[in-house]
Amino acid sequence: MKYSAPKGTRDVLPGETEKWRYIEERIHRICELYGYKEIRTPLFEQTELFVRGIGEVTDIVEKEMYTFLDKGSRSMTLRPEGTAPVARAFVEHKLFGEAQPVKLYYVGPMFRYERPQAGRFRQFSQFGVEAFGSKDPALDAEVIGLAYDFFDSLGLGQSQARVNTIGCPECRPRYRDHIKRVLSEKLGELCPDCRSRYGRNPMRILDCKNESCRAIVNDVGSIEPFLCEECSAHFALLKEYLDALSVPYTIDPRIVRGFDYYTRTVFEFTAGGIGAQDAIGGGGRYDGLIESCGGPPTPGVGFAAGIDRLLLAMEANGAAPNLNIRLGCFIVALGQESKVQSAKLVASLRRRGVSADMDYMERSMRAQMKHASRCGARFVAIIGQDELAAGVVQLRDMDRGEQWPVPLSEAVDRISECLMSASRK
Ligand code: HAM
Repeated sequence: MKYSAPKGTRDVLPGETEKWRYIEERIHRICELYGYKEIRTPLFEQTELFVRGIGEVTDIVEKEMYTFLDKGSRSMTLRPEGTAPVARAFVEHKLFGEAQPVKLYYVGPMFRYERPQAGRFRQFSQFGVEAFGSKDPALDAEVIGLAYDFFDSLGLGQSQARVNTIGCPECRPRYRDHIKRVLSEKLGELCPDCRSRYGRNPMRILDCKNESCRAIVNDVGSIEPFLCEECSAHFALLKEYLDALSVPYTIDPRIVRGFDYYTRTVFEFTAGGIGAQDAIGGGGRYDGLIESCGGPPTPGVGFAAGIDRLLLAMEANGAAPNLNIRLGCFIVALGQESKVQSAKLVASLRRRGVSADMDYMERSMRAQMKHASRCGARFVAIIGQDELAAGVVQLRDMDRGEQWPVPLSEAVDRISECLMSASRK
């Protein structure tokens, strides 16, 4: 029996994991700069949290959740996103009692039962931030600015936010009615998905990717004339703050997002060259979510980016990092006695903080040298019979092709010095 990773999932092998770590380091760095603290929530939650949080009439809840009964017959769901779990944790740990806003971030796998294709996986990783406790549009601008600075730090600064507002429960129904009025005569021309959205969630018709639906939707127009005074003022200030922060953006009335928790600000970032699944991040404000999770009325705003897609986008846009991680020193040894010395030297180098390795395959001297250069060793220390007898090692600079003897007793000091001066150059 041969096994393979489940459909829509994959292994990240050495060579790739370094790139993931590179992105993760950027994530921790940007969050530190912006004052966001890391939170880790479980990979699964009670199903009810997502049904109520994300909304019953959403693609995720209707079709994409990995839901199962545990052995106690409780319905559990692998988290399809991070906002609802973080909101649950905010309420559970009474973080509303702390100084507001509470600014949190997370990195980790999410699960959606979607049809796998380029850039779309059933297990994928997200980096997300959530800021709770403030209605201030300056905070919406901060989140969009954080997202932009993060993408820019990965060489994806050409990806700009497309921003919109979807109003609040007070003014949104007016726009919804307007959409239905405008589209009522063209219902037959919409795709089957949009026909079903018409009755249940007409705003989602606006972001349908289908060409014929897109053309019809052009007649709908923006939500702006339908906004209540507060939502309108919030949106105007958001734009002012984005300008003040020099965050590039465009206004796009088609951005409506696929979760019911959003209120007012919504936004998305896309990247070129990665095919149909080109959204690298998205988010918005969700002023009713904490209440629907059983907490006190608390506004919130956040965003999440897909790390898998970021890697594809970096590759496609020539922004892939050149991560040439090298071994500090490989010890080449021949014969049992030399091998013991070699093991001793490797251990001492590692304790000194120098990455070091040796042969475990009984290779010939020549093959060990070849292996050392395959490992990207910066230096090689050779301990043959003659060196052993003379109490020295031959230290070889692999980049310059120079070689010289060093007393075995000083080898650790000398190798670390050489590496330090090599790294300064
Ligand atoms: P989302 O737009 O569903 O938002 O996901 C955010 C990002 O996750 C997407 O832009 C995309 O890059 C990535 N992503 C989503 N699904 C997949 C998939 N199947 N395969 C690969 N990547 C994927 C949210 O999840 C919201 N919780 C964001 C948010 C945070 N809103 C407020 N706070």
